Amino acid sequence: MTATASAAAPAGIDDPYALSLDQIDVSKPELFERNAEGAYFARLRREDPVHFCADSAYGPYWSITKYKDIMAVDTNHQVFSSEAGLGGIIIEDGIQKSSGEGSIDLPNFIAMDPPKHDGQRKAVSPIVAPANLANLEGTIRERVGRVLDGLPVGEEFDWVPAVSIELTTQMLATLFDFPFEERSKLTRWSDVATAEPGSGIVDSWEQRTSEIMECAECFQGLWNERMEKPGMDLVSMMAHSPATHDMTPQNYLGNVLLLIVGGNDTTRNSMTGGVLALHQNPAEFAKLKANHGLIDSMVSETIRWQTPLAHMRRTALADAEVGGKTIRKGDKVVMWYVSGNRDKDVIIQPDDFIIDRERPRQHLSFGFGVHRCVGNRLAEMQLKILWEEILKRFSRIEVTSEPVRTRSNFVRGYASMPVRLHA
Ligand code: HEM
Repeated sequence: MTATASAAAPAGIDDPYALSLDQIDVSKPELFERNAEGAYFARLRREDPVHFCADSAYGPYWSITKYKDIMAVDTNHQVFSSEAGLGGIIIEDGIQKSSGEGSIDLPNFIAMDPPKHDGQRKAVSPIVAPANLANLEGTIRERVGRVLDGLPVGEEFDWVPAVSIELTTQMLATLFDFPFEERSKLTRWSDVATAEPGSGIVDSWEQRTSEIMECAECFQGLWNERMEKPGMDLVSMMAHSPATHDMTPQNYLGNVLLLIVGGNDTTRNSMTGGVLALHQNPAEFAKLKANHGLIDSMVSETIRWQTPLAHMRRTALADAEVGGKTIRKGDKVVMWYVSGNRDKDVIIQPDDFIIDRERPRQHLSFGFGVHRCVGNRLAEMQLKILWEEILKRFSRIEVTSEPVRTRSNFVRGYASMPVRLHA
């Protein structure tokens, strides 16, 4: 795309080509809410792929926007730390761990560096071992079928709560062996864990703390129960692993919230994103209907196309060079997966949704290196089952109006999306 060929920016959003490079700040949540971030990243990839923004709502930060540079940062945890500083792993300091107002310090392994990270990750990894995934498959399929059979064919309804949220919540309850009837609490705690007062989710820091304490109490009860009677669930794994059985209650709660948040927004928005992508690309949907063998690659393409987590952040432990720029010790470094996944130097026709790509799993949505998503195979399996069951039941899912996107530079997803099912 040339500067003159840039698509018109939506009303209220600056045309990225009308700004000087040093005025560009891709962290603004409204860019993502308005689906306007793409043109900004296209310009940075071409003109300034390792870009410094001196002034933003989150302080100064580097943007890494090309696929190979992102991999170089993500796989170099010796220099680019997930633990250093106050901010943790997102651009915004203080949501996950900080000493700021109303915050609770809840260490979790995504915000730890090796070697501590490795033991804690290993403790929960058996949940996604191939044999366990095979065990889960029947339960997931049955629950997906039940949810799909309850949908109103021919009527307009919101896909996000009816399907995406419901199925991911059911999955979380299964992974924790959480009381199934109380599963909506998991979604609530996931929302609260990353919310600030005034976000529409909680009104005050006190409310947030009190709800997180309720979560802590509930999971302490499950820990005590599973100490006595272990099962194949995440709580039992943490209670009995040598790396986690004596962790602090704060660390336990931090890991619980990590697993809840990690498995929730991401898969949820891939479920919605797939419906939208296939609605916008009817020829791809026709290919899928003609050949269900394409479901696996369609699922991977959806995860690339959607990029449910737009970025991960690191803090430099030493001066380092990336893409010809010198990053200084202490600098905040943001890997924009959403941009790397549109890098034409690595991905052919990256802006197009193509369900039969040659290398569909070649994308950055799960990250790379020691923190690469622990749940990636589970997420793919859930999505695969969902699409197998959808194709058995419906001829088309029509998106009846524009979805409402989340106002976030981290979770790239949907608050609602009206659809109509065709039998
Ligand atoms: C880590 C994305 C599903 C649990 C991550 C990371 C990304 C990611 C980008 C960080 C990678 C890095 O820093 O290099 C996704 C996407 C998903 C998904 C796009 C769905 C499409 C899940 C599920 C679970 C899960 C279903 C839960 C069972 C985790 C955990 C980590 C993680 C625990 C931390 C791993 C570590 O620090 O070692 N995920 N995720 N994710 N994810 Fe996922």
